[in-house]
Amino acid sequence: MSTRAKDATLEMLRRHESRNITFVEPDAGWPIVWKRAKGCRVWDDADRVYLDLTAAFGVAAAGHANPAVVRAGQRQMGELLHAMGDVHPHALKARLARELSRLTFERWTRRAATPVGGRLPGGTRASIETGKVIFGCSGFEAVEAALKTARLATGKAGVIAFRGGYHGVGYGALNATERGHFRDPFRDQLREFGRFVEFPESDPDGQGRLRMEASLDAASAAGDIGAIIVEPMQARGGIRIPPPWFLPCLRQWADGHGALLILDEIYTGFGRTGAWFACEHSEVIPDLICLGKALTGGFPLSACVGRARVMDAWPAAMGEAIHTSTYLGHPVGCAMALAQLSELRRLGLPQRAARLQRVLESELTALQRRFPDRVSRVSVVGLMGGIAWRRPEGGPDTGLSVGLMQEVLRRGIILLPEGEHSEITGITPPLTITESQLRGAFREITRAVAALLQPPVLVKPSKLSRPRRIRS
Ligand SMILES: Cc1ncc(COP(=O)(O)O)c(C=O)c1O
Repeated sequence: MSTRAKDATLEMLRRHESRNITFVEPDAGWPIVWKRAKGCRVWDDADRVYLDLTAAFGVAAAGHANPAVVRAGQRQMGELLHAMGDVHPHALKARLARELSRLTFERWTRRAATPVGGRLPGGTRASIETGKVIFGCSGFEAVEAALKTARLATGKAGVIAFRGGYHGVGYGALNATERGHFRDPFRDQLREFGRFVEFPESDPDGQGRLRMEASLDAASAAGDIGAIIVEPMQARGGIRIPPPWFLPCLRQWADGHGALLILDEIYTGFGRTGAWFACEHSEVIPDLICLGKALTGGFPLSACVGRARVMDAWPAAMGEAIHTSTYLGHPVGCAMALAQLSELRRLGLPQRAARLQRVLESELTALQRRFPDRVSRVSVVGLMGGIAWRRPEGGPDTGLSVGLMQEVLRRGIILLPEGEHSEITGITPPLTITESQLRGAFREITRAVAALLQPPVLVKPSKLSRPRRIRS
């Protein structure tokens, strides 16, 4: 297809889509129009191929259009395209709910029960718990289901959330998503039940845990905190990885204050960080976990999974659910999720992400060594990495980060900026990426940064072409 086709698409969007959605550069160098995708590659409408280092917002964990997932979706479309969410269920919704329970609370509590003779560190007897699910479509719906569950289970409306956290932009989720960019225009329509606390990224003086406890205490001064919601590692906030004490500290504080711990693993879930779920790095079991994105590999389906005894705060259905939606537990999404989970397992993708962390780490460190005065930090866990760009005089370098994203797109690589100032380049490829693809991408990224930082070449006036006369 020609650039004319791309121009036509962008023009149609300009005319008929809300102008807040698709950013189009004046020269239309950004965006590209996607035509197809497979594995780690994406083709645009001119059949140019790109390496995707974003997994399309972390969704394509088992590769774009994983054949087993596509087959499962196609088969399901031919059989049952739509069922009746909270009324007449279909079998796959039940199977997926059971699978999610097994993968989360059953697996975690079995593990916790095994090593120390069925006793948890606190001395309480461990028992294997099951999980119960509320399905949704988008990630923010899973977050809102978790917030509602916590309200019902604790009777308390207040929620502690973290600066830089991203939980989606629905009206409920916006109470926990801190960035002013998303919430300020609608602030007067929010209930504002979120209290925001600093997200700890490092702990140079070893006093971080004490400071965290003090912040949690201060945020709960009114005594109405029913939940803490947190990403175990912030993704959109700029690939921010907290110290190891962070989740255990939140778990302990929540237990001591009658609050629930909600983990938003919509980004970090399903192998991204080198474990099935990021909370497994610190062996913390939440009360509720929010899942989406990589759950299906490309169909809008999300899930809030909670300990059964917490989820049972919802009253039993009497014919009209108080939290539901038309597409709840969509059959095609459930079929794809079941296939995606078995692909993640069959291909050992969480383990693969853990192995490739070493490669990503070495490439990020090499980049930092190459541009020491322009990189303020690099961070990596599994196949989730970030490079924070800074100006030579200090402060976030949004220009370099955004310029890099545009420059590498011209060179056939898809990247996205993260962080409050979009100053961080996120690296979250499909977990199927190979070592040589990753290394090749970094060679190109390094060349692109070098090209962007080169001082502009001054061209002698004699070498400038004469302005051409435009015929009138
Ligand atoms: C951690 C986290 N939570 C929630 C969301 C919101 O998900 P969705 O955009 O599907 O509503 C996102 C999206 O990026 C996310 O990264």
